[in-house]
Amino acid sequence: MYDPIPYEPLKQYSFNQVNAFGINQRTPPIATIPRGKLDYYTHIPKDSVGIAERTLRNPYPYTKENLLEGQVLYTRVCAHCHGENGNGQGPVGIKFKGVPNYSAAQYKTMNDGHIYHVIQWGRNRMMPHGSIVNPEERWKISMYVHVLQLNNDPADLPKLVKATGGSQTGPIDSNVRDRANQYPVEEAQAGKGSETPGQGGTVGRNGSSI
Ligand code: HEC
Repeated sequence: MYDPIPYEPLKQYSFNQVNAFGINQRTPPIATIPRGKLDYYTHIPKDSVGIAERTLRNPYPYTKENLLEGQVLYTRVCAHCHGENGNGQGPVGIKFKGVPNYSAAQYKTMNDGHIYHVIQWGRNRMMPHGSIVNPEERWKISMYVHVLQLNNDPADLPKLVKATGGSQTGPIDSNVRDRANQYPVEEAQAGKGSETPGQGGTVGRNGSSI
């Protein structure tokens, strides 16, 4: 009466005779990703920003919408330290000390994967921000940081794409910017509105006007 007869995934009363290791809850198959978690990763240690730089690819295009969204997020989450212009002179940054200028020589070559990793895990004196912004937001902020490095206007996109594409060396270049080389995240992404939502507009499914 008190103990359920069927196997319950979150309760374990006795040894499960069917599943491996005798547990009710099965572990996900290796190399599978839960819905909505496609952009999350755990395989890069937090102090290995170099690996992130070489292997993480930004799945989002440098469009005006993405950059403007990145700007809003940056202003909320980063600007108080890093400054509106990315020069490290935000009101908190001045007191906090050691906040770099994104345009300084050693920061100029950071690619999107590098910035993404720093947002997620932090670096040295900068604390992690992964719990505040989700992966999609991190990529958008990364793109906007590039705008700041170039001291550009988001409206000036062709110049931005050209300039950032040329600032990195080696094969990363084309991989980072060329969408043909990138993972089809957008198609598989959970939590995104359907292309063909049910009844939303003024036309019913049968074509009649509502
Ligand atoms: C509390 C202040 C603070 C906030 C908020 C903050 N940062 Fe930082 N950030 C720092 C400091 C300090 C450093 C220098 C870290 C060091 O090397 O000691 C830094 C360094 C960086 C670097 C350079 C990392 C490297 O490889 O050397 C990047 C990129 C960066 N921050 C991006 C961001 C972004 C994007 C956000 C918003 C999501 C953000 N930061 C929010 C303080 C902050």
